[in-house]
Amino acid sequence: MTQGLVDKFGRTVEYLRLSVTDRCDLRCQYCMPKGFKGFAEPGGWLSFEEIARVVGAFARLGLKHLRLTGGEPLVRRDLPVLVEMLAAIPGLEDISLSSNCTRMEKLARPLAEAGVGRLNVSLDSLRPERFRAITGGGKLDKVLRGIEAAREAGLAPIKINTVAMKGFNDDEFDDLIAFCAENGYALRFIETMPVGNTGREALGSYLDLQELKTRLVETHGLVPSSMQGAGPARYYRVPGSETRIGFITPMSQHFCATCNRVRLSCEGDIYACLGDEHRYGLREALRQNCSDDALLEHILAAIALKPERHEFRENSEKVIRFMSQTGG
Ligand code: GTP
Ligand code: 5AD
Ligand code: SF4
Repeated sequence: MTQGLVDKFGRTVEYLRLSVTDRCDLRCQYCMPKGFKGFAEPGGWLSFEEIARVVGAFARLGLKHLRLTGGEPLVRRDLPVLVEMLAAIPGLEDISLSSNCTRMEKLARPLAEAGVGRLNVSLDSLRPERFRAITGGGKLDKVLRGIEAAREAGLAPIKINTVAMKGFNDDEFDDLIAFCAENGYALRFIETMPVGNTGREALGSYLDLQELKTRLVETHGLVPSSMQGAGPARYYRVPGSETRIGFITPMSQHFCATCNRVRLSCEGDIYACLGDEHRYGLREALRQNCSDDALLEHILAAIALKPERHEFRENSEKVIRFMSQTGG
């Protein structure tokens, strides 16, 4: 079966965001509440074999890009072993990772050797005290060492993700741009999204990135970049420099019409849209040892339910789960 994964709005799904765990060693304010205990039970996690089977089925349907997310994906034990299994699946063009990099120093090399290519890193501040406050206790120096290790291990490109927050980090955007320019990283600013109570509360510090873009056009002379990825970011660059600056604007200018992705939770639920609570469970079929054809049919059925767009602005109460449960 190779007809491809096309949803009912004509969008081709070729990008899977695979959450390998819903756990995380940080507690970013906008993502997961302090003291949160509602994690998936280990018995409910898909095993590596089950994950590889699902990704293999997606690949047969035309999947090209696989991104490992969490929670924090490096918290899942033996992640390089999983990556090696996934890298052997025919048809996939790349395996990338979204990480907070707290544990990257040790794992960068094994992950790169197993087949991880691109890396996106959450980093909202370059000031240790502020970083600690935003992440609920994170140690900035450890994260910076992790990013460095990733670069040395050859992960590329490395993109820094900064959630833009009024009154929290809006006075250090120039520092972040300089940091990325010096190190050859791309920088992406992200608008806060009302995913879970934490995300809704973070809307109190929401910063409209159209305003920031206008400001950066004036101060840094940003021009649109010819390099645009297959994801939600729209890229610009500073003339005379290779540094790319991306804007991820789900609130002020959403990108749902060109959406190419779905998500798989660590418990085997397909979330066809970040802005929708609906999930399509695969675990039961997997554990009843369903046929390969039946698995493909389940995936197609899940894609058929993909909504046209999110309603983050019109209905900000809609998404109850936390971002950590689907990995963004
Ligand atoms: P690449 O484009 O492959 O580099 O990845 P990405 O930017 O999609 O992945 P990353 O995990 O770095 O996500 C960056 C931000 O974009 C996070 O805040 C995600 O929640 C958000 N994001 C990613 N995909 C979508 C999407 O389909 N819809 C919305 N609304 N946000 C998304
Ligand atoms: N709004 C916007 N981005 C978020 N992320 C987590 N929660 C939110 C939210 N409520 C981002 C993280 C990470 C990426 C995977 O998702 O900062 O960079
Ligand atoms: Fe796609 Fe839903 Fe994200 Fe819109 S909100 S870009 S439809 S996943």
